[in-house]
Amino acid sequence: MRLLLSLMSLFIIQVSATDISTCKSCHPVIYNEFQNSIHKKSTIKEDKVHNAIWQKHPAKPKGNYKCAKCHTPESKEANAKQGITCISCHTITSIEKHPKANKNIYEKKDKTLYSAQKGMEDKKVVYEEKSSWFGLVKETVGSPYHDIDYSNENFYTGKMCMGCHSHKQNGKGFDVCRTNVVGSQNKEVNCISCHMPKVNGSATTIRESKQHAFHGFAGVHTAPTMLSKHILIDYKKVASGFEITIENQAPHNLLTHPLRVVELKTTLKRDGKSEELKSHKFVKTIGTNNKPSMPWLATEVVKDTMIKASEKRVVSFEKELKSGDKIEVTLGYYIVNPKVAPKLGLENEKKLSSFTPLKNAYFTVK
Ligand code: HEC
Ligand code: HEC
Ligand code: HEC
Ligand code: HEC
Ligand code: HEC
Repeated sequence: MRLLLSLMSLFIIQVSATDISTCKSCHPVIYNEFQNSIHKKSTIKEDKVHNAIWQKHPAKPKGNYKCAKCHTPESKEANAKQGITCISCHTITSIEKHPKANKNIYEKKDKTLYSAQKGMEDKKVVYEEKSSWFGLVKETVGSPYHDIDYSNENFYTGKMCMGCHSHKQNGKGFDVCRTNVVGSQNKEVNCISCHMPKVNGSATTIRESKQHAFHGFAGVHTAPTMLSKHILIDYKKVASGFEITIENQAPHNLLTHPLRVVELKTTLKRDGKSEELKSHKFVKTIGTNNKPSMPWLATEVVKDTMIKASEKRVVSFEKELKSGDKIEVTLGYYIVNPKVAPKLGLENEKKLSSFTPLKNAYFTVK
């Protein structure tokens, strides 16, 4: 008992420092996934794209790191060591709506964390040790380190993501980005169900569970193929050639950040030869006076061919097909638009400025 108490006081000392390594001891699987996520790497130091934009930002010379609100919520400094932490999410009580950007309202009570668990929707769990068989068998309830409040609805609908992910306006009152969610904020399908799907491995070392919510946050940087099942690709032969249909089942634009480019690559295989057909690109470019610009100067959408929420986009190919032809389709993306990469000094960052495949499909012409 004395050992347990001293262990607990050790934990208590570490609590206030919101150091995520504390969580590692009891949530190692989740902690390790999180290490590779862009949420963890959302800082100037670790995200090269974020850094490149910040270096050019007019607020930089004034040292006014406004990005902190979402990129490094635990610190206001541009040289913050930690990006988004476990605490930045698990202590969100509610979201306050504002025109410029929403705001996360955080729990002030120390060591009260919010989470979601089926069947626990109205429960708050405080740590308890129960013994039966005259103390021979011990069972624990909850966490010895923190209380858990399962009653926050925002953790069941994905609304807790929307303090940072809803929208952001620049100084000119123009939406630099807006996730514009269409539906899918219910308990069955939401940001969490798609981006944090259940994967194998225990959520804690103290109480074994078969699965846990993926904390690598599937997206363009990490584990994109975990999301490919939400994109359907189909093929149809028509009089003038054929059509490829891309169905985006996400409740938001297929990609949301204005630096991204989506590309559809199509290859025709006939008689042992391959012919690359016209590639199609999809973007949403912001700028001013009909020209692309840096986000803080933008006043309008210059071009928008991005595949929208729940849209079925039909792409036509004027190419006569023969029986036995094979069509190979790859849908993928560039994290940084290759046209913009040199302006940001990112042209040699292969992972960022080259094509990443997201979904393949193969069709044989009857
Ligand atoms: C001493 C061990 C310990 C430490 C340290 C610890 N936790 Fe936990 N945590 C647990 C246990 C045990 C549970 C499971 C409780 C249950 O299943 O009833 C849990 C549950 C949780 C849950 C809710 C899981 C659910 O059921 O949905 C969250 C969220 C969580 N912890 C986050 C954290 C974060 C963030 C940290 C670091 C700040 C942390 N924990 C540190 C032991 C710990
Ligand atoms: C309101 C919250 C919020 C604020 C404030 C904010 N961002 Fe972001 N930022 C996000 C979110 C959310 C994403 C991921 C969105 C996406 O991928 O569509 C993101 C992504 C980015 C990306 C893309 C990074 C990549 O990995 O490709 C860049 C660049 C960026 N932000 C720059 C900035 C800069 C510079 C600032 C401050 C001047 C800033 N952001 C302020 C929420 C914010
Ligand atoms: C039906 C599944 C689904 C739901 C629900 C969903 N998404 Fe997505 N999301 C996707 C897919 C598919 C992609 C594109 C593939 C990729 O990013 O690798 C994506 C991409 C993203 C990206 C990366 C965009 C970029 O340009 O970098 C962000 C950020 C994102 N989603 C946030 C959210 C948020 C926030 C919610 C809740 C409002 C949400 N998603 C709901 C499927 C979903
Ligand atoms: C971007 C927000 C976010 C961050 C950052 C985050 N979590 Fe979570 N976490 C969630 C959400 C949302 C859930 C609920 C998932 C669900 O509905 O199954 C969750 C669930 C959990 C659970 C319960 C998992 C399960 O499936 O039973 C634990 C434990 C947990 N988180 C610990 C952590 C730890 C430890 C960290 C830091 C290493 C962390 N979280 C970082 C959003 C976050
Ligand atoms: C505290 C603010 C914050 C919260 C809360 C938050 N995010 Fe993010 N998220 C960001 C920022 C900032 C980025 C971009 C980081 C970067 O690229 O530097 C991001 C990036 C992402 C990405 C892109 C991943 C990739 O590989 O490109 C996805 C997906 C995502 N978030 C999903 C979620 C989901 C789902 C939730 C809710 C469970 C959530 N986020 C909650 C701030 C937040």
